[in-house]
Amino acid sequence: MHVLLLASSKFVVLNMNVKVLAFLSFFSVVSYLFFPYFDAITDSYTQNKSPIQSEQCDPDIAPFYIYNLPIQFNEGLLNNCSTMNPSKDMCHYFGNQGMGQPFNQSGWYNTYQFTADMLFYARAVNHPCRTLNPSSALMFYIPFYASLYTHVFSYETNLTRRDELGVELLDYISRKPTFQRHGGHDHFLPAGLMAWDFLRGPGHKDGKGSHSNNFLNLPKLSNISILIIERNTYNGKNQFGIPYPSYFHPKSKDEIKSWQDEMRRSERTHLFSFVGGGRQKEHGAAKYRSAVINQCNSTENCILLFCKYWIVTWDVADEILGAMKRARFCLQPPGDTMTRRSIFDSILAGCVPVFFSELSAYEQYTWYIPERREDWSVFIGPDQLDRIEEVLSQIPEKEAERMTEAVIGMIPQVTYMHPYANWGETGSRDVVDTALVQLTKRVRQFKRSAGATL
Ligand SMILES: *[C@@H]1O[C@H](CO)[C@@H](O)[C@H](O)[C@H]1NC(C)=O
Ligand SMILES: *[C@@H]1O[C@H](CO)[C@@H](O)[C@H](O)[C@H]1NC(C)=O
Ligand SMILES: *[C@@H]1O[C@H](CO)[C@@H](O)[C@H](O)[C@H]1NC(C)=O
Ligand SMILES: *[C@@H]1O[C@H](CO)[C@@H](O)[C@H](O)[C@H]1NC(C)=O
Ligand SMILES: *[C@@H]1O[C@H](CO)[C@@H](O)[C@H](O)[C@H]1NC(C)=O
Repeated sequence: MHVLLLASSKFVVLNMNVKVLAFLSFFSVVSYLFFPYFDAITDSYTQNKSPIQSEQCDPDIAPFYIYNLPIQFNEGLLNNCSTMNPSKDMCHYFGNQGMGQPFNQSGWYNTYQFTADMLFYARAVNHPCRTLNPSSALMFYIPFYASLYTHVFSYETNLTRRDELGVELLDYISRKPTFQRHGGHDHFLPAGLMAWDFLRGPGHKDGKGSHSNNFLNLPKLSNISILIIERNTYNGKNQFGIPYPSYFHPKSKDEIKSWQDEMRRSERTHLFSFVGGGRQKEHGAAKYRSAVINQCNSTENCILLFCKYWIVTWDVADEILGAMKRARFCLQPPGDTMTRRSIFDSILAGCVPVFFSELSAYEQYTWYIPERREDWSVFIGPDQLDRIEEVLSQIPEKEAERMTEAVIGMIPQVTYMHPYANWGETGSRDVVDTALVQLTKRVRQFKRSAGATL
């Protein structure tokens, strides 16, 4: 475990973050004790910073323009980080442009799972394909901190007020001639929470029982590409899955490569592992969680890092990655939602993910995952739920090794590189580059079909 130095043998039983409950209470965090408390925002405001001009723009990425939004739509929301959760000061999780506080080793941060929109922005601002001139842009980036917006207003019981900032944002954007030209088809907006956080159902007219807003229901958003950590797979044509952030934000090719090599060498002493907690009987995911926990707990071939409710886990990165890098397969059952941040932790640890639902990754992250699911993952259907060890142990060693190598090969593109990483240096596309390549394809296709010239 030489990467992360949060050593704490106390955490035999981890305390866990349940996503839904994360909104209700952000818990008291034992692990605060393990690293110094930093001030909320340690990096300065970057909105008007020029891109680094000396580097080459990837020819597969079209020039994009970042709107200069009034501050209340992004950085201004950080002013509320200490009060947005009644029981926990969240500020240090949003520091360092969304990376959170650094661990001791270069490139490693205690990154909170819901900062994808901030990390995307930090990276895009310095991107060599960014243009400061809207008339030479093919794509338009709306740098709204959708995750912070949701967090800050989730306790507001007046729904008009809860939804207001999202409505104002779209009023502001839709007045721009650059928006009106193509009705928003060439616009994109990353959002660092799950789709259901932005889709309050009709059953919650009084605001009770839900902390969601109605952002994704707003008609003005309908043509904009939403990049989101969990899509609504039933009704999310314009939603595209992007990875949850994990702990690694390297600056250079060498940092990535040496981590990948370490994961290749890692001794995988156990067939499988599970990091997570159970769910109460009436919870939709209870059957998956109890099957996984009981089976893992009853064999020596599984490492179980069991998390109790109520307290955050992402603070204990070395326990989490430590369990994953000693195992060949990492179980990824549904929890409060179909997706999990843990999927990306396991990829980072070179541990082959095992899915129990099509909606956990295959129908989410198509921009980021190999086309053939069996190349990098295992799918366990309902009929095999009680035979997990048997299914996994029947996979031939050679095939398992090939899958491990495929997973390790995915690390760069599911990583949010450090905002100050040098493009020429990193040599591979990260989360942001990969999204920009795919968005470029979509916009070019839209323009072709709309008969417009490029
Ligand atoms: C981090 O490094 C500092 C200085 O090298 C050391 O004093 C400290 O104990 C380390 N922290 C952890 C959590 O290992
Ligand atoms: C955010 O912070 C500002 C200034 O501290 C405060 O006036 C405002 O009420 C806060 N908003 C919410 C929704 O808590
Ligand atoms: C809710 O907020 C809106 C906008 O601030 C306000 O006009 C309205 O009166 C509020 N409704 C209630 C019931 O307080
Ligand atoms: C979305 O695009 C369609 C055409 O594809 C257009 O008719 C509609 O007005 C656009 N919506 C907005 C909000 O501009
Ligand atoms: C694992 O099994 C042991 C022994 O049977 C039991 O005491 C423990 O509670 C189990 N742990 C979990 C998380 O189910």
